[in-house]
Formats: sequence, C-alpha cells, structure tokens
Amino acid sequence: MAAPRIALRGDLLDFVATPARADRDSRAVRWRPGHWLLIEGATIVGAQAAAPDVTWQRIDHAGQLILPGFIDTHVHSPQLDVIGSWGTQLLDWLETYTFPAEHRMADAAQAQAGSTLFLDALLAHGSTSAVVFPTVHKTSVDALFGAALERGMRVIAGKVLMDRHAPDTLCDDIDDVAGAEADCLELIERWHGRGRLAYAVTPRFAPTSSDAQLAMAGRLLAHRDGLYMQTHVAENPDEVRWVAELFPDARSYLDVYERHGLLNARSVLAHGIWLDDADRATLARRGAQIAFCPSSNLFLGSGLFGWAAAEDAGVGISLASDVGGGTSLSMQRTMADGYKVQAMAGTKLSAWALLHAATRGAAQALGLAHEIGSLEGGSVADLCIWDWATSPVARRRQEVARDLHEKVFAWITLGDERDLAETWVAGVRRYRRPGAG
Ligand code: GUN
Ligand code: ZN
Repeated sequence: MAAPRIALRGDLLDFVATPARADRDSRAVRWRPGHWLLIEGATIVGAQAAAPDVTWQRIDHAGQLILPGFIDTHVHSPQLDVIGSWGTQLLDWLETYTFPAEHRMADAAQAQAGSTLFLDALLAHGSTSAVVFPTVHKTSVDALFGAALERGMRVIAGKVLMDRHAPDTLCDDIDDVAGAEADCLELIERWHGRGRLAYAVTPRFAPTSSDAQLAMAGRLLAHRDGLYMQTHVAENPDEVRWVAELFPDARSYLDVYERHGLLNARSVLAHGIWLDDADRATLARRGAQIAFCPSSNLFLGSGLFGWAAAEDAGVGISLASDVGGGTSLSMQRTMADGYKVQAMAGTKLSAWALLHAATRGAAQALGLAHEIGSLEGGSVADLCIWDWATSPVARRRQEVARDLHEKVFAWITLGDERDLAETWVAGVRRYRRPGAG
C-alpha cells in the first residue's frame, strides 16, 4: 500500500542555521506563512505555497502556526507526582519528595500507568521528543520505552544508576556493580535502536554513584555505538560542596564525569550553573551539551545559568523542563523562564535563540538534526499546530505586534499548552485539543 500523502496548510516556522542570541532579524529563521507542508508516510517531503493536487489529503490550518515538535532534553517521567512541592532546595527536595515518589515505579502496573500519563502529557504540551530519567527500576525503563514505541516517539532514556546516598530500595547493590551493569546491558539489548528509541547510560548525579559505579557507566558507554549519557551537574551550591567532599581528587564536579569517560558528543548534562571556564572548555572539547532548565532552577532556588559564557565557550545549549523540579512540561513556559533568567544575568535572548534551543539546536546537540527539530524535507514528520493566541490578552498582543519577532516573542511569553491544537508524531496525529473539530 502506498504511504498516505497528507498536506497541512499553516504558517510554517523553523530554522536553517543557528541564530545569534540577540539577533531579532536573524537569517537563520525560515518563515513560510500560509504554506502547505507535504508529508508522505512518516516523512516530510517538502513545502510549497500552491495547494498540492488531489492525490494529497489536504488539511487546512490557515492562520495557525506549524512548528517542529519540541525536544525536551531533560525531564523525569516519575516526577509528575512531585511537581510543585513546596519549600525545599535540591538535596532536601530529593529526600523529602522525590525519592519517595520514585519508589512507586518498582511496581509494573504503576510504572505502566505513569509512563502512559507522562508521554501523553508531553504530547499534549507539544513535545514529541525527550531525554528522560525514569527510575532505578528496570520496570520503569521497560514501561517508558514500551509506551514510547507505541506512540512512535523519539525517546532517549535509561535505567537510573544509584548505589549510595539514597534509600536502600532505590539503590543498586554497591557490592555488586556487575549486577547493575548486567541490568543495563539487558535493557540496551532490548531497546537501543528499536523504533526511534535510544539508550542513555544514566548515573543520576555524582553523589549517588560510587567511583566503581561511575567507572562501570564509562564502560557501558563504550559498549554499543550511539549510546547516550545523561546526568546532572553543578546545579546547587550545597550539592557542589558535597561533591568536592566525596571526590577530593577531582578538579571540579564536572571532572568527576570526565575522569570516568562520561563526556562525549552524546552526553546531556542538566543545569551546569556552577561551572568554571575550565569546565566549559572541557564540555566544548568533548561536544557535550548543557540542558538549561530555567523553571527548575528558579523553583528550587538553584541559581542562574550563564548562557552567554557557555555559548561563547562553544558549549551546545538546549532547553529542558526538568519536571518535577521544573513546574511545567510546557516548552513555551520554559522558554519564557529562560528569557527571564538570562535577563537577570544581563543577556537578552531573542525569541529565535529560545525557539532554536527547543527545536533544531537540541536536535543538533543530540546528533539528530537529520531526523527532528525542523520542517526540512527528509525529517520525520514530528510537528505541532498552534494557535497564535487563545486568550483575549494574547489575541490583542498579536493584533498589535509589529513584526514576526514580536509576534513569536509574545506567543512564547504569553502562551502555554492551551495554545496547542494538534501534535503529530511520524506523520500520525497523536493529540488533538479536546473539543477541536
Ligand atoms: N539531581 C539529582 N537528581 C535530581 C533530580 O531528580 N532533579 C533535579 N533537578 N536534580 C537532581
Ligand atoms: Zn533533573
């Protein structure tokens, strides 16, 4: 049977290059208002101003915005249960709220229900790809990957590694590093490269892994081509001091990972607030990226990430919700928080810099720009159809916007998932706003 041919009309917006961070007139922006996006099967095959012939199923979204699906490069699937937990910073937030919630994922039925809720929520916020922490339990990884496979989503995830400084029931056996290694190898065999899934070696953060476990993580990374690595780094001042005590020989927090061979072009490090120039140079040399999580950084009072210093050092930066430290899966809200955090640091990010980091920039940093992050022919048809405004205030702001940058910046600043009409994954509509025609 021939692949279905679908043409979607709307205002197409994506990027063909990396915009300079404060350039409002960037030539990196590709703006094709009122165009038809042509999709054959799972793949975008082109775009044109003229209506395609009748061999195409035409779906008209004139007046709506069509964007590549967002890429959330750091988010925790079991932490929907702890969003908006009051009154703590990172280390006591983990102990008080997060570790207890993560216990639940040991149970296969709960892991399944949690993964379904989580992935459907991502889609209902416009994120079609994500780099995800489940829990230490194999059940949580199986449930997440299984649900992602059913939805055709590009998901990068792996079993969380922890063998100390966490409740026993959440820890791998510190005297049996080979046991956790075998679990990971089994999961890699089962899931890595299946559909659009990739495995990420996932030491939670330096304090919860022994040196032996971090060394094992380094070995695992070399085990198969295309494996990713995800972890947290330099998020909170107390955490940074603790790491200095636990690893007295390391030059810095980041150096703990560097020494164990955990930094490469497929490494995603969340936060990176408290890094120095030598750390940034190391990240750039290794091609590792920082997932900037502004909502989480504000909510947990962690600090203000230095976008300009990281970018100027050549470090790739993507944007991430870090739910449940972050308070929303919405990448619009994440971008808006990112703007505010950088404004505090004296850097005014353009709408383009923000949107790029949530789409093509993240795809590039993950080595997946051929597949996701843009509306380029040959990419997988992961995209979202958005209203420019759904509230009277936002509608008024759109009416008086003087140029495209102003429109898009207002859309980011005033918007959220309520603007989302439809989400498509690999050429299939996977979300439609309740009540939509
Ligand atoms: N550091 C270690 N674990 C976590 C987590 O679950 N969330 C955040 N924000 N930081 C962490
Ligand atoms: Zn996190």
